[in-house]
Amino acid sequence: MKPRIAVVGCGYWGAKHVRVVNEMQSARLTLAVDPVADRLAHIQAEYRGVPVTRDIEAALGPDVDAVVLATPVSTHYTLAARALAAGKHVLVEKPLAASSPECRKLIELAGTQGVVLMVGHTFEYHPAVEYLRNLVGSGELGKLYYIDSARLNLGLFRRDVNVLWDLAPHDVSILYRILGESALAVSARGSSHTLPGEVDVAFADLTFSGGVVAHLRVSWLDPCKVRRVTVVGSSAMVVFNDVSPSEKIRIYDKHYTAEPEGDHYSDHLAGYHHGNVVIPPLNTAEPLRLEVEDFVRAIVTGSGVQADGASGLRVVEALEAASYSMANDGVTVALPWACGENPFLHADEHVA
Ligand SMILES: NC(=O)c1ccc[n+]([C@@H]2O[C@H](COP(=O)([O-])OP(=O)(O)OC[C@H]3O[C@@H](n4cnc5c(N)ncnc54)[C@H](O)[C@@H]3O)[C@@H](O)[C@H]2O)c1
Repeated sequence: MKPRIAVVGCGYWGAKHVRVVNEMQSARLTLAVDPVADRLAHIQAEYRGVPVTRDIEAALGPDVDAVVLATPVSTHYTLAARALAAGKHVLVEKPLAASSPECRKLIELAGTQGVVLMVGHTFEYHPAVEYLRNLVGSGELGKLYYIDSARLNLGLFRRDVNVLWDLAPHDVSILYRILGESALAVSARGSSHTLPGEVDVAFADLTFSGGVVAHLRVSWLDPCKVRRVTVVGSSAMVVFNDVSPSEKIRIYDKHYTAEPEGDHYSDHLAGYHHGNVVIPPLNTAEPLRLEVEDFVRAIVTGSGVQADGASGLRVVEALEAASYSMANDGVTVALPWACGENPFLHADEHVA
């Protein structure tokens, strides 16, 4: 069985879904949906023969088995709920929805309908993240000290979510995948510099078991494009630089051991260890392709997906807690936690 997939939302990211689904042997792209005619014209020019429509109802009809939603975050809940209610398997782009109650409703609906619900946590499928996860799990880094994750650039400014809800789903899902657990607590600070009331720079600290702390920086106001995760352990340190085309992972054999104080400067230096840098070869498969393959596999075989509804919920809970913290002077918020409504999302619709 080849699932017949409709891609709903054919903007920047949806167009990539269209490409990936169109190239797959194990699925069939049956429809591309977008209310904006120009977007559909672009899809038709690139992929001749792909049916397009401005009418979302067509994606809910009997000729479609599964829907990929790559629409603005404010539409995720309403559109996903409609598709699930129509019996479609659904892959929703990140974040799964705009609040944890919305996520829970989608998970419940998918369960009732017996269909797959997946969230587009693309980095959960990134070979470099898988490599990091194995490295951390192997104990090669020693005792884990901290993680620093930075996702910075000039823009791309969005109107329906702030920078935290736009970019941090990537960092949080990476952290959760690498560590195999979700955070115990979060505190965050954000600031608005351009659009009135729109947080365009945010910093968050997430605490994990064993005292591991992760610091996230997300910004739409940085001169340099940075997509970097640094993991520091007692024995070694590793950097995942997603901007690098061929050296995404660099493992540094570096550490510091506090020495008993001696009289000479050389005694102090003896604590530093500078060894080799290893750049391992990685699987070069495109993360988005691996993600959509997981979705199709789950539809065909009934297996679970890695980035499931629960994964989407855990990330949204962290974003909600961080939003609350940002609005309350960086107060530390214990997880799991839900405010029920995202005060930073300018959505017209809230869950009933
Ligand atoms: N996984 C990733 O790495 C990644 C990267 C970028 C964006 N995204 C996610 O993808 C989604 C879309 O982001 P984007 O950058 O492509 O935005 P975009 O603005 O470029 O595209 C959104 C598209 O959705 C269409 N749309 C709006 N309302 C619609 C509706 N009701 N029905 C059908 N189509 C509708 C718009 O016309 C537009 O073409 C967001 O959820 C974003 O967070 C994920």
